[in-house]
Amino acid sequence: MTTQTLSRSTDSSQPLVPLLEERWSPRSYDETATISDEQLDAVLEAARWAPSAMNLQPRRFVAARRGTAAFDAVTANLLGFNAAWAFRASALVVGILETTNEDGEPLRFAEYDLGQSLAFLTVQAHAEGLHVHQMAGIDAAGLSAAFDLPERFVPFTVTAIGTVADPSVLDEKAAAREVAPRTRMPLDEVVLVKE
Ligand SMILES: Cc1cc2nc3c(=O)[nH]c(=O)nc-3n(C[C@H](O)[C@H](O)[C@H](O)COP(=O)(O)O)c2cc1C
Repeated sequence: MTTQTLSRSTDSSQPLVPLLEERWSPRSYDETATISDEQLDAVLEAARWAPSAMNLQPRRFVAARRGTAAFDAVTANLLGFNAAWAFRASALVVGILETTNEDGEPLRFAEYDLGQSLAFLTVQAHAEGLHVHQMAGIDAAGLSAAFDLPERFVPFTVTAIGTVADPSVLDEKAAAREVAPRTRMPLDEVVLVKE
């Protein structure tokens, strides 16, 4: 494995906290690597402690380690290209929205709150020496059925967690993307006003 694949630091315009600077979303996972019970608990605990609107915490998770029936059920519901690489991850975490409360009232910030909790999970995973890749390309209805979720709980993303492997575990095109420069819109385009 090259140092380049472990960390794909960017041309950030400002120095960032190293965990943020070094984070990236690999597809080349080591299919022999495992995540310990403690590491999985740590990343889920980080997600639990993320802020949410009115502290309503409208997010739930299904956490499945490779080699389990739950993991197979998640991989069976990955769409297209995602199915070609995510099966090598050590764990897959389904991010689930609580769309309404038990009285049927909409929880308007559920998407925001779930995303924020997965950002926390991502940073904690990096601190554990792991890498994370979030996916929207999932079969939400298939996941709901597989885990027998009530209607108000809606699968929204699946997040792969694992150990980076050499890009050569992927096909040539996907391997090239693993080492391509990471890009972002310029800061002055993202920040509309700064005074
Ligand atoms: C909500 C969300 C959905 C995503 N869906 C997919 C996906 O289905 N498949 C995939 O390969 N990458 C997916 N990504 C990964 C993004 O493409 C990736 O984060 C982006 O290109 C920036 O790369 P970086 O994370 O390495 O900085 C998703 C990321 C997020 C946050």
